[in-house]
Amino acid sequence: MFKVYQSEDWKDYRMSFNDPHKVLEPLEKEIKIVGEALEVLKEVGIIPHTNYDNEKLLAHRKAVAELFEIPWTAITHRMQRLIYAINAIKQPANMIAAGVFCGNTFISNAGAGVGPGAVYTAKNLIGVEIKPHEAERAERNVRKIDPTGVARVIAEDAVDTVKNFDDEINLLYLDADGDRARGKGIYLDILQNAYDKMPKGSVVLAHNSVNSGDRLNAYLNFVRDPKNMSASVNVIFDPEGLEVSVK
Ligand SMILES: C[S@@+](CC[C@H](N)C(=O)[O-])C[C@H]1O[C@@H](n2cnc3c(N)ncnc32)[C@H](O)[C@@H]1O
Repeated sequence: MFKVYQSEDWKDYRMSFNDPHKVLEPLEKEIKIVGEALEVLKEVGIIPHTNYDNEKLLAHRKAVAELFEIPWTAITHRMQRLIYAINAIKQPANMIAAGVFCGNTFISNAGAGVGPGAVYTAKNLIGVEIKPHEAERAERNVRKIDPTGVARVIAEDAVDTVKNFDDEINLLYLDADGDRARGKGIYLDILQNAYDKMPKGSVVLAHNSVNSGDRLNAYLNFVRDPKNMSASVNVIFDPEGLEVSVK
């Protein structure tokens, strides 16, 4: 089953990539819009309920704003909240995030399992970044929030990471922009190499479902085909978008 959640104001809800902590709207509105998106995910069976701890999310947000070095990011507050909430609700034992740059997207996922926003105990929360100097910065950032090492960032090609991972993958977050030939088309390579390790009920999140829609065509066709994934929702509440799919 494929559905779209679209807020009326998605084109106007714009952040400055260099000023990611700036508040763009009243908190109540952010909570309402993300709540509507979560309802659609519940309707199609991606998540069992829509409840998550708003105070924990805000504690996570504050820690990231204070401790992370973020040169730029395209993750809006709505997107941070949605990604955090999905992880808090699904509580994946093993989460792999591909293409994490400075780590902000990674910790939006992993923050449900480590740091001040933690609501469960995970086994492995792994961020993968192909550029070693970016991976080093992301790892430095993550260490400030999670002293345990459950959440960690490695410098590797994410295709190899999922291929070599020797346990179940319960949540896969895709944001790698690949090489010149494939660009964000690499999402499909990563998912296909992870697919057999993903048990029924596992979730895949794909950032840029709106503004990279063309490069993601083959990927979107794959996750929207009920033979491959039982449900998929394109969440459109900012200009980037997130495709949320469940096996
Ligand atoms: C555009 S950034 C994502 C930024 C993120 N959307 C944000 O707003 O913070 C994509 C990252 O993917 C990395 N990347 C590209 N191909 C990759 C691969 N095969 N494996 C892991 N990382 C990869 C790039 O080096 C880059 O840092």
